[in-house]
Amino acid sequence: MTEPLHVPRRLGVTGTDTGVGKTVVSCALAARARQLGLRVAAMKPLESGVEARASDADATRLAAACGGNPDLALVRPYLLREPLAPWVAAEREGQHIDVARLAAARDALERDQDLLIVEGAGGLLVPITAELAYDGLFASWHCELVIVAANRLGVLNHTRLTVQAARAAGLAVRAVILTALHDGADDVAQASNPEALHRLCPDVPLYRFPFVPVTDDLSALAHAAQTAGLDALLGSADPTILQGRDTLRLQPSRTS
Ligand SMILES: Nc1ncnc2c1ncn2[C@@H]1O[C@H](COP(=O)(O)OP(=O)(O)O)[C@@H](O)[C@H]1O
Ligand SMILES: [Mg+2]
Repeated sequence: MTEPLHVPRRLGVTGTDTGVGKTVVSCALAARARQLGLRVAAMKPLESGVEARASDADATRLAAACGGNPDLALVRPYLLREPLAPWVAAEREGQHIDVARLAAARDALERDQDLLIVEGAGGLLVPITAELAYDGLFASWHCELVIVAANRLGVLNHTRLTVQAARAAGLAVRAVILTALHDGADDVAQASNPEALHRLCPDVPLYRFPFVPVTDDLSALAHAAQTAGLDALLGSADPTILQGRDTLRLQPSRTS
C-alpha cells in the first residue's frame, strides 16, 4: 500500500490594507499552533521594501515564530527592492515573477508540517503579476482565508469589500480578525465596529485580537491568539474547500 501524500492545512492571511497587523497575527497563529503541538511553517511569497536580513522583515519574523531556522529563500522566494506592490516592484527592477517557483518553495517548506501560514502583501487584490493577484494565488493553493482588519474608521467598507472579493474568487473565509493597533480607550468607531461587522457579515466568524505591547514576544502573541479564540482556526480543516486536494490530515497531531 502506498503512503498517502501528506498535505498540511493552508491558511492564507490577507488584510484590509497594508500595516493592519497581518504579520503580527500570522506570528501569533504560528506561536499558538506550536504551543498546541502542531508543526507549522509560514511564508511570505513576495516581500518588498526590506533589506534581506532585516530583523523586522516579515519573512524573518515569520521564520522566528515558526522556529527551527527555516531557509529564508523558501520562506520568501522573492525579495523586491522598492516598497511597492510585487508586480510593480518586479517590473521596475526587471524581475520576472515565476509562480511555479513560489509553489516549489511552498512544497519544500510545508513538507512534514501540519499547517502552512501564507502571508499576503497589502490587501487581497494586490497584483503579483499582470494576470495574478493574491486572491488567485490563495485559491489555486487551496488556502482557507483569514482577513486581518484594523479596528478603525473605514473597516466596515474595507472588510465587506474583501469578503466580497474573496467569495468571488471562490475562497472560504474562515475569519475576520479585528486588530487593535493602538493601546488605550476605544473611540466611537472602534467601539461600534465589532457589533456592526457582526451584523453586516453574520456568516463570517469574527475575532478580536488585542493590542500586544511587545509584538516580537512570542509567548505574548500566543497568549493573545488564545484569548482571541483563534484556536478555532487551528483545529480540523474545513472539508468543503478540499476538493482536488490529494489527502489531508483532518485532525492535527497534538503533543500537548
Ligand atoms: N495587535 C497589535 N498590537 C500592537 N501592535 C500591533 C498589533 N498589530 C500590529 N501592530 C503593529 O502595527 C504595525 C503593522 O503591523 P504588521 O503586522 O507589520 O502589519 P502588516 O503585516 O499588515 O503590514 C507594526 O508596527 C506592528 O508591530
Ligand atoms: Mg506584513
